[in-house]
Amino acid sequence: MPTAARPISDVLLTEAQLRRRVSALGAAIAADYAGLDPLLVGVLRGVIVFMADLMRAIPIPFTVDFLAISSYGAQSQPGQVRLLKDLESNIEGRHVLFVEDMVDTGLTLHTLLRLLNERRPASLHVCTLFDKPRLRLVKLPLRYVGFELPDRYVVGYGLDYRQLYRNLPFVGALSAQVLLPNGGGTENDAT
Ligand code: IMP
Repeated sequence: MPTAARPISDVLLTEAQLRRRVSALGAAIAADYAGLDPLLVGVLRGVIVFMADLMRAIPIPFTVDFLAISSYGAQSQPGQVRLLKDLESNIEGRHVLFVEDMVDTGLTLHTLLRLLNERRPASLHVCTLFDKPRLRLVKLPLRYVGFELPDRYVVGYGLDYRQLYRNLPFVGALSAQVLLPNGGGTENDAT
């Protein structure tokens, strides 16, 4: 448990900025998917705060489902994931919108999109709230992007550090006292 008195060194995105951007994303998705009965797919746990707000910003009928994955830890190949919970929906022939909290190297998302594409959805697009394009290692089609972020580790609005800080209503950078040198590299909830 971090003991630093001030765990957040600076706020990158305020609650109001997040609210405005999520509303705009929801409106764009509603316009593009009207009449298509889309399925929103999220990866637990990082996406839950964004998904909850995004859902309420999309005023058309849709359904939602979740995957849970774990990374294999520091010794594994980047992007290698273990499926802890599969979707409950059959996505064949469905218009699937993959909702992500953060795309960084893109390797996790690349693996998951390949998995979903094998199930032959009618369409498969990505909406990510946060994008760190400077760290990208694979080319990925991102249809909706909330914010581009610099290469800094951020927490809040669902994003964690060692499972903490997901409940912050804003997005902030962690102070140096909190960030440990090894970053917590054992087998872990990947998102
Ligand atoms: P990648 O795109 O495969 O490198 O990994 C993306 C995942 O790494 C995201 O879904 C997050 O779970 C995690 N991640 C990347 N950057 C951050 C960050 O700044 N804060 C919290 N989690 C992050």
